Amino acid sequence: MIDDKKVLFSGMQATGNITLGNYLGALKNWVTLADEYETFYSVVDLHSITVRQDPAELRKRARNLLMLYIAAGLDPKKNCIYYQSHVSGHAELAWILNCFTYMGELNRMTQYKDKAAKHADNINAGLFTYPVLMAADILLYQTDVVPVGKDQLQHLEITRDIAQRFNAIYGDVFTIPEPYIAKTGAKIMSLQDPEKKMSKSDENPNASIYLMDDKDTIIRKFKRAVTDSLANIAYNEEQPGIKNLIDIYSVCSGKSIEDTVKEFEGKGYGDFKLAVGEVVADKLVPIQERFHEYEKDKAFIDSIIKENAEKANYYAQKTLRKVQKKVGFPDKIR
Ligand code: TRP
Repeated sequence: MIDDKKVLFSGMQATGNITLGNYLGALKNWVTLADEYETFYSVVDLHSITVRQDPAELRKRARNLLMLYIAAGLDPKKNCIYYQSHVSGHAELAWILNCFTYMGELNRMTQYKDKAAKHADNINAGLFTYPVLMAADILLYQTDVVPVGKDQLQHLEITRDIAQRFNAIYGDVFTIPEPYIAKTGAKIMSLQDPEKKMSKSDENPNASIYLMDDKDTIIRKFKRAVTDSLANIAYNEEQPGIKNLIDIYSVCSGKSIEDTVKEFEGKGYGDFKLAVGEVVADKLVPIQERFHEYEKDKAFIDSIIKENAEKANYYAQKTLRKVQKKVGFPDKIR
């Protein structure tokens, strides 16, 4: 708890382009959470180097991600958006937690197995202990809730195990985090395969709308969206492509599913796709404009980076000092 508010932490990698799915499914809802929670959104650059990165590219993507979050509506005065590498406590706590984590546990992590298979030429120790760094991220802020996708649930589970193990030895040091399940938030599917989630790692760029796509690109991608041959705009599981487009239209326009179906009943798919493209572009263009303003306003973004790193460090140090004392490190002489 910070000032009577529960703590919410999430980390995001600056790899891949943020999609409309990320925005409508998560980011858009995060904007409303700052009143209820003390929020930390970390751009996890320490995690990123577990696979080889181009340094200039990583730096640029990390800054772009941070600006995009702000442009999408996360108020940087209310939400602590910061770089993980600016808070050394992450790495320090990760080391300590490494000593409370078993090889056998890490061996079971499915994401490790997948990534090791994909990067067979670079199976480094960091890739293996990645979940421990993630545990450190979360536990460092005495986090109550973590919004995570299904793919990260196993990592949250190991975080809880590590925290409970540590607490069992040393007393109540860490808050045990819970997954945050969003009350709202649409699940947006791929435009090319509507049985699959829209994903920033999809190799086909036509499958996803990226937050920075311009209007023409957005409309072109919707025109190419895979639908069906029923020529009927209805909301059901047999027409997953149309269902997905209805979902997207509904969230972006603020109209209900029923009203959307009524509005387009009897119309052709071509017209409907165009309308979906328009409403999505209307939603994204203002975000893109703000992003470009922030790109020009280096001083403003730099001040946010500095202030938020200081804030994150303050809370991180509180936990870290406690942990260091518990495990038996000597007090610093001041
Ligand atoms: N591993 C997460 C992902 O790839 C990112 C992440 C790092 C994270 N640390 C975190 C997510 C802490 C939630 C909490 O998506």
